[in-house]
Amino acid sequence: MKIEEIPRIRIGRLPTPLEKLENLSKAIGVPELYIKRDDMTGIGYGGNKIRKLEYLLADALSKKADTIITTGGVQSNFTRETTACATKLGLKTVLVLIGNEPEEYRGNLLLEKLMGAEIHFVSAKNLDEGAEKAGKLMRSLSKKIEKEGNRCYIMPVGGATPIGCMGFTNAFLEINSQAKDLDIKVDYLIFATGSGGTQAGLLVGKRIVNSDVNIIGIRVGRMFEPFNRMIAEMAEKTGELLGMKKSFSEKDVVTYSDFIGEGYDIPTREANNAIKLMARTEAIILDPVYTGKAMAGLVGLIDRGDISKDDTIVFWHTGGDPTIFVGEELLGKEFMESLKK
Ligand SMILES: Cc1ncc(COP(=O)(O)O)c(C=O)c1O
Repeated sequence: MKIEEIPRIRIGRLPTPLEKLENLSKAIGVPELYIKRDDMTGIGYGGNKIRKLEYLLADALSKKADTIITTGGVQSNFTRETTACATKLGLKTVLVLIGNEPEEYRGNLLLEKLMGAEIHFVSAKNLDEGAEKAGKLMRSLSKKIEKEGNRCYIMPVGGATPIGCMGFTNAFLEINSQAKDLDIKVDYLIFATGSGGTQAGLLVGKRIVNSDVNIIGIRVGRMFEPFNRMIAEMAEKTGELLGMKKSFSEKDVVTYSDFIGEGYDIPTREANNAIKLMARTEAIILDPVYTGKAMAGLVGLIDRGDISKDDTIVFWHTGGDPTIFVGEELLGKEFMESLKK
C-alpha cells in the first residue's frame, strides 16, 4: 500500500514550518542550525503526536469507535493531544493517568479537563507497574463503556503503533521536500525520543526516499528496554504496512541516553539552560521533560565533538510546551529562583 492510501484524517496544521534559528546559530556557533516546528501543529496546544493521531483516529473511526481510551503520565502530552483531536472529531476521551491526582490541576492535566476528558488516576511505584495497572483499568473501563452501548478504541502509551508511526513517516517526506525547497542538505535530525514511535516512523520515511540523514533520538527516560531493538521492530512493522521488504535492525537506530539525568521528568541543569537559551535567543518555548533535554543533547553532542559545528542540523521541536506552566515540580527550585534574579 502507498502511504497516501492509508486512511488519515486531517486535523493538524501541516506542514509545520522548517526555519533557520538565526540567533541560536550565532549563540552556539553552528551556522546551519534549523528547527522543525511541530509545536505548531495547531490544535489544543499542538505537538508531535497530532501527526500520529491523524492516522490513529482514522483507524478508530473506521472501526466505528465513539470513545477513545488511552494512558500516560499525569503530565502526558500524548493524552492531552488525544483529548484535543478526539474532541474536535466529536469523540469522548477517557484517560488513565499514571500517578497520584495532584491537588492543583496544571499544564496538560488542566487542558485535558478543560477539553472534557474523563480522567482516572492509577498510582504506582514505577512506570512498569503503572503501565500494567493502567492496561488493566483501560480494559475494564472499555468493557463497562461497551456494555452501555458505546464502542471503544484503546491506544497504547504515546500512540506507538505502526499506524500511529505512519504520521512520522509522512513527516519525514514533508521535511525532505521542505529541505529541497530551502536548498539545504540536512546532516542530522535531532529530537526527543520517548515511546520511540516518532523515531520509528522517521526511519521508515528515510528509507522510502533513500536519504542518508542521521536520525538521532535523545532519550528522556530509561524505559522500554531494549529500546533500540524495540524501535527497529516498530519501524519494521510500520514499513510492512507499506509493503517494505527490507528489514530494520538495531544498527539503523541511534539514540543517546547521556542526557536523561536522574530520570524521566526529573530536571537537569543542562536542559534548563537549553530552555533558557532557546527562550532568550529565539522566543521559542521548550519543555523540561522532552524538548529541553533534546536540545541539551544537541548542544552536548556538538560540545563533545560527536557532531561537527559545520554540519547542517535540524532540531525537531516535538511540542510539549504546556508543561512549562507546571513550574517548580518539573523545572526545579533552583531554576525558578534563577528567574527571579
Ligand atoms: C513533547 C514530546 N516530545 C517527544 C516525544 C517522544 O515521542 P515518541 O513517544 O514518539 O518517542 C513525546 C512523547 O510523549 C513528547 O510528548
